[in-house]
Parts: sequence; C-alpha cells; structure tokens
Amino acid sequence: MSVLLQTGRVVTADSDSICDILVEGETIVGLGRGLPQPAGAQVIDCTGKLIVPGGIDPHVHLSMPFMGTFSSDDYETGTRAALHGGTTTVIDFILQKQGGSLRSAFEEWSGRATGNALGDYSFHMAVTDFNPDTKEEIQEMIAEGITSFKTFMAYKGALMIDDAQLVGLMQEVRKYGGLVTVHATNGDMIDTLVAQHRAQGQLAPLYHYRSQPEVTEAEASGRFADIANYTGVNAYIVHLTCEGALNQVRRATQRNQRVLVETCIQYLLLDASLYENEAEGAKWVMSPPLREKKDQATLWAGLNQGLVQVVGTDHCPFMWEQKLLGKDDFAKIPNGHPAVEHRMELLFSEGVNKGRITPQKFVEVTSTNAAKIFGMFPRKGTISIGADADLVIFDPQKKHAISAETHHMNCDYSAYEGWELTGKIDTVLLRGQVAVDAGETKVAKGYGRFIKRDKPVF
Ligand code: URP
Ligand code: ZN
Ligand code: ZN
Ligand code: ZN
Repeated sequence: MSVLLQTGRVVTADSDSICDILVEGETIVGLGRGLPQPAGAQVIDCTGKLIVPGGIDPHVHLSMPFMGTFSSDDYETGTRAALHGGTTTVIDFILQKQGGSLRSAFEEWSGRATGNALGDYSFHMAVTDFNPDTKEEIQEMIAEGITSFKTFMAYKGALMIDDAQLVGLMQEVRKYGGLVTVHATNGDMIDTLVAQHRAQGQLAPLYHYRSQPEVTEAEASGRFADIANYTGVNAYIVHLTCEGALNQVRRATQRNQRVLVETCIQYLLLDASLYENEAEGAKWVMSPPLREKKDQATLWAGLNQGLVQVVGTDHCPFMWEQKLLGKDDFAKIPNGHPAVEHRMELLFSEGVNKGRITPQKFVEVTSTNAAKIFGMFPRKGTISIGADADLVIFDPQKKHAISAETHHMNCDYSAYEGWELTGKIDTVLLRGQVAVDAGETKVAKGYGRFIKRDKPVF
C-alpha cells in the first residue's frame, strides 16, 4: 500500500519547502516535487497545509500507580488521545518498586501496554532503589532498549533516591553510554514546608504551590548538574519550570557541560494564579507547580537559546473525583493533569502563530530533539527517506476550541477549557497508516508498537 502526500509545506528541524512525500508500507521512500503517482496509491492533497514529523512526547504517565490511585488514561485511551493531537510516539515511565527488581517492573508495565496501545510507545526506567542488585540490571535494561534512567529527588518514601544512590546510578549508566534523567526538586525541603503549612491549617491548593518555591527546584537542578558533571554521564532534567533552575543549567554550560532540558507545555502557558481558585485549583496541582509569568518568558527564551531542547507534557491525568481525594488537604491531591492531546496544537497556536518560535523550532522541540536524545533518530523525529512514515498534516489557520467535551483523554476536565486555538491537526499517519483523519480514529487498539531505543545521539 502506498500513500502520496502532494504539495504540502514540509517542515523539518532543518528544512522548510513545498514538496511531495511518497510512503510505501511503513516507510518514507520518496521526497521531492512532482513525484509520479504509483498505481493504486492513496493521494492526499496537502496544498496550504504543513507536514511535520509525528510528535514525540517523552514524558507521559499512563495507568501509573501514584498517591493511592492510578492515572486515568491507560495505553489505549492515552495513545489514542496522543494521536489525535499529532503525537505518534510517547515515552512512559516504568517505576521500580523500592525493594523490587527492574526486570519485574518492566514486566508489569509491558503487561499493561502490550496489545493495548494505538500509538507507538517506549519506556524510561525510573530507578527508585539503587542497590547492588539494581546495578547488575542496568546493562540488561539497555539491551532491552531502555536507555534512559529516571531519578526522583523528591517523593521521599515512594520514589526518591538519595545522592549516594544518584552517584552510583550515574557511574553505572555512564559505563554504557545511557542517559540519566531527573525530577529535580529538593524532596526534604518540600516535605518540611508541606508539614509546616499543614500544621498551620493551610490546606488549600495554593499551599501546594507555596510548598515548592523556586529554590527547591533550582537547588536540586544545580546539585544534579554538578553530580552529573563529576560522573560524566549524559544528563537530562525533566519538566523544568523556572528561571532559577534554568540558570543552573546556564551555569553548567560555563564549564562546557551540557545538561539537556525538557520543559512542558503548561509551564510555557499557564501560571500560578490558577491556584488562587480554591474550588478548582486542584486541576492544576502538579509537581513542580505552575510558576510565574517571568518564568514563562525565561522558558520561551530558553527554547530559542537552545538551552531547552524538548517540550513534553508530563501527562498524568486524574478524574475530578480522584482530585477530590485532596479536597480537605492539598497534600492528598494526586499530582498531575491531562495534557498529551493538545501539546502540539497549543505550542503551534501560542508559539508559532504568535511569533515566539519558528516552525522549524516547533519541529525540533516537539519531535526531532526527543528522537535524538532518546535514541530513535532518524527512524523517528524527521521526514527523510528510510524514516518511519509518522507524519502530521496540519492546517495552520483553522480555528478550534479546547474542551473536555470533545477531547479524547480519559479525564472529565480540561486544563485549557474554552481556549481558542489557531492551527489544527487534519490527518496523522503512523508508520504509513492513516491513524487519525478529520477527528476520527482510523487505527485499532494494538496497532501501537514498543520502540526499542538506542543510546542518545545529541
Ligand atoms: O505532578 C506530576 N508531575 N505528576 C507525575 C509525577 C511526576 O512527578 O512527574
Ligand atoms: Zn484537537
Ligand atoms: Zn516529576
Ligand atoms: Zn512526570
């Protein structure tokens, strides 16, 4: 089966031109102007449309056991929603159980994902207990195609590791050329501030924000960068939100160290004033919390400075009823929000259409850089001959509004309810198959494949 996409504006991280794309089976086989139409080919007229590489969201949590409940999107609903938003590949986080093995956690997560995903997926391994047995498993996980290892410097007693474990993990991962990623906030300091607020009866969502001031993130980001520099490991900070933390990354560049940075769409677009709404603030309770306008400005600049390479989502939705677990105590609100579906449309509308970033930067930070950093390039993350035909046909001028009533995420509220966007996804191809067209899902559960990843090339 072949598909010919005609006369689209094809944008990659390093090119921007009007041309045709020929897809044969799962792969791009032709790229150029006026390509001949093979007999029986499906032809899609892309005049006036942008064609970009399928999005890669390297930060999602599907069916994640967390804070006494599970995130409400599973591999089926989560990857379907991702496809509707132009994201053809997601990377989820396996969580090692403290006291358990990496292998058993890998099996548990694979069991939930296999046969259920519509879109392609891969895993990071969150090491929550680095000990002599875990150390032995690092090389084994890399052989399975899990080349990135996540650490938490917060959530003590559940996910957090201490600096001794962090050093040990980095030394081991470095041996094999893998990547160590981090949730960089100072867990002990946060726990102290949480306890102080609760002791004073300050229990509203606003105090979630007040318990994680900028310094908690800046300190941990700097510490992580310093330890990574000492060990020489490839380092990546997930969901970076603020000026103080980015300044630590800037400081690292002065010794010619590169610390890779992901921010998430919400930190570019939403701010902490949302927590002043006592009744609904829980919708945006996530860690780290939303910050200030000045931080948004720093992050937009960081994208253009090349200090921030990736825009993800940290998609971790909970139903409103689950959020109500914390109605009397902010510390019991499950942390996270729904986001995977609208990352690309939001970034295009607020970023490209408002002149903050170029279309090429948009491609870089939604797809190409993640493909390189997480070892999937050039199979994914670009439009070139031999690459997977993961393609998004995008109407740059079409207007639409975001609502929980029309989104595909398994969540009964939207973090962006009523937002009006310019630029909408028309059609999405995943490995040559039309996966979404005009708002309809065209692939079935089970079409999504586990992507074995290589080492970072960045
Ligand atoms: O609030 C968040 N971010 N929930 C998911 C877990 C994490 O820290 O990424
Ligand atoms: Zn949409
Ligand atoms: Zn996190
Ligand atoms: Zn996360």
